[in-house]
Amino acid sequence: MNPKLSAYLETGISIKGSRFVAIELIRMLDNADVSMQDVGMCISKDQALLVKVLRLANSSFFGVSGRVGTVQEAMTVLGMQTIRKMAISLGMVGAFSESTDLKAFWKHCLQTALNADYLATMLDFPKEVCYVAGLFCDIGLLFMYEKNPDLLKAALHWEVEEAELLAHEREILGFDHAELGEAMSIHWHLPDCISYSIANHHSEDAWSAGPISAIVYCADRLTHAMLAGKPFSVETILPASMLAFLRLDEAQWQELVNKQAVFAQQAAFLS
Ligand SMILES: [Fe+2]
Repeated sequence: MNPKLSAYLETGISIKGSRFVAIELIRMLDNADVSMQDVGMCISKDQALLVKVLRLANSSFFGVSGRVGTVQEAMTVLGMQTIRKMAISLGMVGAFSESTDLKAFWKHCLQTALNADYLATMLDFPKEVCYVAGLFCDIGLLFMYEKNPDLLKAALHWEVEEAELLAHEREILGFDHAELGEAMSIHWHLPDCISYSIANHHSEDAWSAGPISAIVYCADRLTHAMLAGKPFSVETILPASMLAFLRLDEAQWQELVNKQAVFAQQAAFLS
């Protein structure tokens, strides 16, 4: 590992409380035998998170107002994947300060997660893992924020080109947020596909690391374009090699673009 990166990581990013529960839930994604009971028990380890999950499950957002009193009931009504994604999102988003910078940061992450989830559904890839991989692709920026808040401020100026941002980080720190995020994911023992997608989320060759990495790249590109007010046309945003790999056509892309306003509302609601 890059020695500057390992020295930076040594101080560690704390994973206690709801952040710890979120990480545990992500580790479970690798295990097809996990039951609703396992997920419910994990969420129940953190009472504050449990209350947030039940509040959201009962909100008008899901249209089951007041019908669920326990996490098991919530999973029966809304499905285990929905509740697990909700707990992971709330566990990570709620575990940090309320600063405006972080609100904008999480809005971006949630929008990318929703884009990845939708793309995975359209293209028939595992959508829950794509959602989480999208949510986590910029996790390295979060760690940088705890140590170098100005770097996150630079990243949140969406008009800054991604390549420019990565070069700026490498100049200051000796590594970029994709490398740092990958190292954090490995350190937390998250599934390999999530580590790969974090490492490749700004690489035009992300498809070579598999479909989940390719989907997260596309999802993140669209979120950047949307927040920067840039054109959404598929050929201006995605390289031809990515489109060919995913077999993503223009009609599917347009369908995703048409969802952006709804996803922006959902991301604002959750952040
Ligand atoms: Fe990024």
